[in-house]
Order: sequence, then structure tokens, then C-alpha cells
Amino acid sequence: MLQDKCYPKIAIDGPAGAGKSTVAREVARRLQIKYLDTGAMYRAITLKVIRENIDLNNSVALQEILSITDVQINEDNKVFLDGEEVTVEIRSPQVNKMVSPVSCISSVRRKMVTIQKAIVLQSKGIIMEGRDIASRVMPDADFKLFLDASVEERARRRMKEQRDKGIMMSALEVTREIAARDRIDSTREDSPLIVVPEAIVIDTTAMAFEEVVDDIIRIVREGLSCSGNG
Ligand code: DC
Repeated sequence: MLQDKCYPKIAIDGPAGAGKSTVAREVARRLQIKYLDTGAMYRAITLKVIRENIDLNNSVALQEILSITDVQINEDNKVFLDGEEVTVEIRSPQVNKMVSPVSCISSVRRKMVTIQKAIVLQSKGIIMEGRDIASRVMPDADFKLFLDASVEERARRRMKEQRDKGIMMSALEVTREIAARDRIDSTREDSPLIVVPEAIVIDTTAMAFEEVVDDIIRIVREGLSCSGNG
């Protein structure tokens, strides 16, 4: 049920490279609601684990790090780790490689989900993207969308993204990394990436970015009774 129809809560889930971030950012701009990239928060804690050289099997060291680490994400989705801005650093190949294993750990998830739920409570309308938004973080979302695309297409997009940042990776390397993250993200025990039964699945493989955005805006508008924003 829509409670405040002009300020929807929108959940977007999907695998790595499906275009969730760029699409969600633009939908948020058009609907004038808040946007939150939850993956960035998992990336920040992963950066801390890498910097501190924490063994993921050492639960005591991990607990200790979690208890003293502060992860914050501001209105512009700039990410702060213990007060230091790490928005660019969390996109490094090292973080890409480690983020899925770190995200499997239940104590890490509990900390991130608590922060995310608090942000939802403080927000009037919000579009949140990640892996467990519809299933765990915002089960009462007004709209639950699942963005998907073929592995090849997602790898192509990720390669372009990396190339734009000056990071050269082969197609094989990127495809392998994406496939490995898919496997870990969707088979982990604690809140795996799933398509909830009520989700609307959008396969973006052959769609332009603008088409995906327009589709989502249309879905949201059709579910809203007010026409003020957008
Ligand atoms: O969206 P992304 O690629 O930046 O996410 C990085 C990793 O974080 C992803 O591989 C799994 C994890 N993640 C998660 O477990 N739950 C979320 N809600 C968001 C991301």
C-alpha cells in the first residue's frame, strides 16, 4: 500500500553491472527523492578490512574492526570511512575483488542494514539499490524492481567504466570477476541476491539507459496518485 503517494520508497536489486547506480541516480533526480547506493557502504568496510589486513576467518579481529569503524554516506552519496572521504578508492580493483566475500559475513551485514534502515526512516521518499533491498532492508517498499542483464553485457559496461577511469582490464578478466561476484552474492547464506515474488524484473541487456529510466518513472507514476514530481 502506498502511504505517502508523492514520496515513494523504491527498492532496486540486481547483480553487479546491471546499471542500478546510474539508473537509480537519474530516477531520484527526476522524482526529486533521495538516492542511496548501499553497495558503496559494503565497499567502504571492505576497504578498511584491506587496509588493516584483516583475515576474514578471524572473527574476533573482524568484530573489533566493526565495532570501531564508522561508515557514513552523505546526501550526494559521498562515502566516508572514519571521517575520510573514500568515494573513489572504494571502486579500486582490490575492493572489487574482496567486496563479495566481506559482504557474506553476517556481522558486517547487520551493521550495514541497521544504518540503511535508519536512513529509510529519516527519508520521505527514497530509491535504494543493492542486493537485499526488497528482501531485507525495505521489505515495505512501494516499488520493488530487479534490474538484470546478460553477463557479457554487464562485463562490457564494467570494462568501459574501468577504462574511463584509466584502469585497463581484459574482457576475460572482467567477465570472470563479475561471474565470481554473481556466484558469491546469490549463494551466500545471509540475505542472498534474490528476485522477490512481487518484484518487477527489467532485463536491460538490449536497453539504452534512458529507456530503463523512462520505464521505471512510468511504473512509479502509474502507482502514484499525485503528479507533482518527475
Ligand atoms: O553494487 P556494488 O557492485 O557496488 O556492490 C558491491 C558488493 O556489495 C556486491 O558484490 C555485494 C555487496 N552488496 C550486498 O551484499 N548488499 C547490498 N545491499 C549491496 C551490495
